Amino acid sequence: MMQMMDLETKIAQLLAQAQADQSADWETKYLGKKGLFRQLAAQIREVEDKKLAGEKFNQLKLQLEEILSSKVNDQKADAARVQTSSPDKTVDLTLPADDKEPAGHLHPITQAIEEISDIFARLGFIRVRHPELDLDENVFERLNMAPNHPARDEWETFFVSHPGEASGKLPTWVMTPHTSNGQVHEMKRLGQPPVRMINIGRCYRRQQDATHTQMFHQFEGLLIDKGINITHLKGVLDYFAREFYGVGTKSRIRPFHFQFTEPSFEIDFSCQICGGTGEVDGQKCKFCKSGWHEVGGAGMVHPNVLRAAGIDPEIYTGFAFGWGIERTYTLRPGLNIDDIRNFYNGNLDFLQQF
Ligand code: DAH
Repeated sequence: MMQMMDLETKIAQLLAQAQADQSADWETKYLGKKGLFRQLAAQIREVEDKKLAGEKFNQLKLQLEEILSSKVNDQKADAARVQTSSPDKTVDLTLPADDKEPAGHLHPITQAIEEISDIFARLGFIRVRHPELDLDENVFERLNMAPNHPARDEWETFFVSHPGEASGKLPTWVMTPHTSNGQVHEMKRLGQPPVRMINIGRCYRRQQDATHTQMFHQFEGLLIDKGINITHLKGVLDYFAREFYGVGTKSRIRPFHFQFTEPSFEIDFSCQICGGTGEVDGQKCKFCKSGWHEVGGAGMVHPNVLRAAGIDPEIYTGFAFGWGIERTYTLRPGLNIDDIRNFYNGNLDFLQQF
């Protein structure tokens, strides 16, 4: 005699096997005349409680039929899928997929950074990166701006608080408001000239409107050697203007004041819409209004800055320049970006245009 427990085990095993089985002749194999269900059901003879065993077999049969009907449904769904993609019911696996994965690209400012570093690399400027969180000493003092110097006000600086600062014993830290701190670091790194760097980095200032973001980028050039003068600076600026904005773009330097250069200049580039004339078809050029775009600052490195880095200004001279990448980039004709905050607000519709 077979125990009811053994029968239950056999039923459970058959059910599990049937569920996992993907054979094409599934129906015959399990529910056919000589199928596995009938074979098991024949063993009812060996069980004492035939009524209970009968109930168990009925239940098993219903479960097997359920599995069968779900298999049939799956097959129908598969067939329908094949039909929609291919009316003649064959699937051409060599066809491209319907939905192409969208391809990403570099952020426009990253593209501009790469282009700018390539242009300066062709003139032998080595791309470096110096800290974004730096000591006040490197950001201001060694650039000829003593503590409390009024010139510091121009850089709307974020100061970073840290434990111990209140005691006045620990140095002051700032989020770099310009990349000019790179000059100090690069002179320290190299010890003595020649120095020829382009420092590109993020800067931070307490300003936010359509033409300012609290985080932005600048690039800073520095060249120090024997016999360097303003004509070298002008040559580099003209080269950049032509390479970045196109043939015919000129640079212009105007006297200005910065603490870390003497003499100092503001740099303008000629407008590519009106060719520097300020007029288009007898009307004032809407892009520049004056023929020129102001982009940044430059000058001959101040002797105090060289001295602070241990370089003798009687032997060496150099020039430096620096300006914002967002502004430089948006001056390209045809871009027409009226709010540079768009670069950083995560709006993909805007970014995908580049
Ligand atoms: N650091 C200046 C600013 O953020 C720009 C600048 C002016 C950089 C003159 C220079 C320079 O290297 O020589 O406005």
